[in-house]
Amino acid sequence: MITPGSDTPDLVIRNGLVGSAAGSVVADVAIAGETIVAVGRGLPPGRAEIDATGKIVVPGGIDSHTHIEQVSAGGLMNADTWESATRAAAFGGTTSVIAFAAQHVGLDLAEVVADYEALAARGAVIDHAFHMIVADPTEAALAQLPALIEKGHSSIKAFMTYDRIRLSDEQLLDVMAVAKDKGAMVCVHAENHGIISWTVKRLLAAGHTAPKHHALSHPRLSETEAFERLIRFSLLLDQPVMIFHVSTAEGAAVIRRWRGEGAKVFAETCPQYLFLTAADLDRPGLEGAKWMCSPPPRAEADQEALWRALALGDLQTVSSDHAPYRFDETGKLAHGPQSTFKQMANGLPGLEARLPLLFDAMISHGRADLDAFVALTATNPARIYNLPNKGALLPGYDADVAIWDPAAQVTFSDETVRDGTGYTPYAGRTVRGWPTTVIRRGAVIVEGGRMRAEAGSGRLMLRAGGPAARGTGRREPELDPARGGAALI
Ligand code: URP
Ligand code: ZN
Ligand code: ZN
Repeated sequence: MITPGSDTPDLVIRNGLVGSAAGSVVADVAIAGETIVAVGRGLPPGRAEIDATGKIVVPGGIDSHTHIEQVSAGGLMNADTWESATRAAAFGGTTSVIAFAAQHVGLDLAEVVADYEALAARGAVIDHAFHMIVADPTEAALAQLPALIEKGHSSIKAFMTYDRIRLSDEQLLDVMAVAKDKGAMVCVHAENHGIISWTVKRLLAAGHTAPKHHALSHPRLSETEAFERLIRFSLLLDQPVMIFHVSTAEGAAVIRRWRGEGAKVFAETCPQYLFLTAADLDRPGLEGAKWMCSPPPRAEADQEALWRALALGDLQTVSSDHAPYRFDETGKLAHGPQSTFKQMANGLPGLEARLPLLFDAMISHGRADLDAFVALTATNPARIYNLPNKGALLPGYDADVAIWDPAAQVTFSDETVRDGTGYTPYAGRTVRGWPTTVIRRGAVIVEGGRMRAEAGSGRLMLRAGGPAARGTGRREPELDPARGGAALI
């Protein structure tokens, strides 16, 4: 037991099952100001108390891959503001997000980052950080990166596909070399662009234009090929990478094999690959567009393989990849009622649904234990992205807490979605377990189904790269002066 200090805490959460990535115990959690000050049994009274008997008390979720108030790969503003997105996140038990500051070709990277910071500062109700999307790695942009990383934007996102924002292999290596120099993590959307564009062209020429054909347009091999190529870049530069949204069994197997070989590769999957399949896109008319994301949902066998990869630690986080587009002319149907799948924005909403879906599968239906739930949804993302004092309920950590009622049943429906999308891909699905009270840095922000936080009360999290982003010290022979190579990095 950890002994509390002499001052009366502001809040004590009493008698809940307190979860961590390394075990759970019935205990009290004492909070003073924004910080957890004690965790233990029979803690003295606080100024306020929450009786959590029969409830599950876990760190607030960290969603480390979200697109918020962001311009898409196709140039379309998405459906959320920082306020609508982060309110939805909080209702689903998430207290921190990492979103994107998205450079597009021709834009000044530093200005882009400043603009996204300002949007978040105005609207966010939860804490937030940014991955910087580098889509135009000009000399000027590469020269700006070190200062942005040093400021605390210590992760970069790169795309290997999408016509307007993808990087060539050489450009990606340039970006990775700067990341290595400054100790930043590199996150990658890894799919083979050539395979996808070739397949899309032929599908469209054959008249296969419906949303369900989007699933065919991203062959499984495009994932494995890009993973293999990216991991070799990682080995060449000794630069750790995070592979985003793993969707296939083979993709997970590539990561397992390379991690076994000592490559410093991290990876995530998302609820759409654990709970949806390509069959979800097969709906009358254009309706299937609501389930269209990249990579697409695959098959039930992939779901099982991804659950296994999560259990084995091959994949370390489950993020939402929240990418909201309304099912109307502002979003999925921006190119009109005759749109082909190629013209439609990719992405699904999921900020609010992520944790309840996982809790229902893992805890209510026994897929995994509470330790795994906490690790995948909070502790691991905090460690990988080096978020200070986040992701665990420990003295000295930020008091970001979600109190789950394991008996609460909620049925997702389009009428009750809280983000800006207007629909949920999980409509009609009932989950058991819901975060009924959510606390952000000591402030109760969700209680009794009501939001209590003001827009702009979320805080920007600036962070150094941290241990996950540091290389292993191994060098490829050509880049190893000790073995006759050149000192290029
Ligand atoms: O379909 C998706 N995932 N849209 C968001 C952009 C991306 O690929 O990350
Ligand atoms: Zn992506
Ligand atoms: Zn994404």
